Amino acid sequence: MQSLKSLYTFQVRSYYKILKNCFKYYWVKSRNVKSVDDLVERHFKYWSEPSHINRPGLTAALNVTKLENPVLVETGTSAYGTDSSRLFDAFVSHFGGTFYSVDLNPLASKRLIFQHSRQTHFYIGDSVNFLKDVLVDKTKKVDLFYLDSFDVDWQNPLPAAQHGLAEFNALKKYIRKGTVIVVDDTPATIDYIPKHFHKYTFKFLEEFGVLPGKGALILKEFQKMKNVQVLLHEYNLVVQFT
Ligand SMILES: C[S@@+](CC[C@H](N)C(=O)[O-])C[C@H]1O[C@@H](n2cnc3c(N)ncnc32)[C@H](O)[C@@H]1O
Repeated sequence: MQSLKSLYTFQVRSYYKILKNCFKYYWVKSRNVKSVDDLVERHFKYWSEPSHINRPGLTAALNVTKLENPVLVETGTSAYGTDSSRLFDAFVSHFGGTFYSVDLNPLASKRLIFQHSRQTHFYIGDSVNFLKDVLVDKTKKVDLFYLDSFDVDWQNPLPAAQHGLAEFNALKKYIRKGTVIVVDDTPATIDYIPKHFHKYTFKFLEEFGVLPGKGALILKEFQKMKNVQVLLHEYNLVVQFT
């Protein structure tokens, strides 16, 4: 009886939260936006934290993304923290274009039910399969990729880096001059990685010649390419194809 009551309370709370966020979504959306900087500022103020670690990279990326009918693609749908899908949805909603986001977990996009524009499309499944087989029927080129799926385990960072590389290999066919790629959790310095993982960090560095992270093995690919310009590298890595 007690567990039924707590399940009921939990469900009521969840519905209340969705309803509250729906109102907030329409209220935030109705506020005036004059520029990309304005839009990013609004997003981090209302849905994230103004000083969030991902803000500089996402600001740099969106500022160089072309505004004429852009196609944005994200692997790893919004979660608490950056709440990235809301930012990209707001971008296409304001400046035009289309946004695709994929996640293995159906709950990620369910959380945004009634809180996104018609230009945003959520998919459930593995990101590599999505990039290889699903996205190709929707678009031939992509203007901005945000890679943020497989979470990094700093004690065993190779699987996340390998998944990142598999995503990069799958998305190459959509790259054009001007395409921007942001890879989250790809620190430029060891200071971003908690000290108690440094033993594993040094091991990875010794073996692969780069710091661990989602984009560690992608970074090695970029270093071999001549048409890649690094726009910013702090906690996330932002590059543009020239
Ligand atoms: C860090 S969260 C995404 C956070 C979100 N981009 C944000 O900034 O708010 C990572 C997400 O990737 C998803 N994920 C993990 N492995 C995946 C895979 N192979 N394909 C697609 N999504 C995956 C997880 O379910 C999780 O929701």
